[in-house]
Amino acid sequence: MYFIANWKMYGNIKSLNTLNKVIKFSKSKEIKKGRLIYCPPFTLIIPFFKKFQNCLIDIGGQNCHENDDYGPHTGFINSKMLKNSGANYVIIGHSENREKGETNKLINQKIKSAIRAKLKVILCIGETLEEKNKGKTKLILSKQIKLCLDKINKKATLFIAYEPVWSIGTGKIPKTKELENTIRFIKSKFKKKMPKILYGGSVNPKNIYNLKMIKDLDGFLIGGASQNSKNFIDIVKKTYN
Ligand code: PGA
Repeated sequence: MYFIANWKMYGNIKSLNTLNKVIKFSKSKEIKKGRLIYCPPFTLIIPFFKKFQNCLIDIGGQNCHENDDYGPHTGFINSKMLKNSGANYVIIGHSENREKGETNKLINQKIKSAIRAKLKVILCIGETLEEKNKGKTKLILSKQIKLCLDKINKKATLFIAYEPVWSIGTGKIPKTKELENTIRFIKSKFKKKMPKILYGGSVNPKNIYNLKMIKDLDGFLIGGASQNSKNFIDIVKKTYN
């Protein structure tokens, strides 16, 4: 199972101290085959990389520019720069960026650039509450999968994080049946190479007992709860116990 910490726009250099517990835990037997990946803000990628040098915790970025090369794009960094800083993963298409105007087409260009830089892509998809209430979940997910993954290199390592927008940061999670149906539906969209499928949205040490029962999940994308090492470790432990 994969446990991916999305720190969003949180954290500073002092946060490095909070990682000691997780580093220790990552070397324990309890972790079994769990893989831990931290996606801190850009400013902390290099410090995190140095901090994780003697353990197996991996690093990812939270977004990247669609251009492979350096260029006049104030405020952005590209996939090569992420790779060069020690990241092996990148989250692309998070709803918090889609809300700001990131389209499926732009996400597709970013994914292609990330793959060329040999980053593993974590593509976020999910419906809003309004779309859910109108019964459009499957339609939205199909469209996101089709357009975001149009003509991408089939050999790339891909993660699909299903994150219902109404679940992010709200404490609400989908009903078990509903979530199992959606995961099955997402998987049905892939014929050849199956991506790893993650769930994200309000994952915490309490609801992990329900979420870990969901069939066919390969892991979790964890926002708020991942900023506290104890909660993050608890989520991993409880997944296995
Ligand atoms: P959350 O965020 O766990 O705080 O709901 C998840 C995410 O946005 O990736």
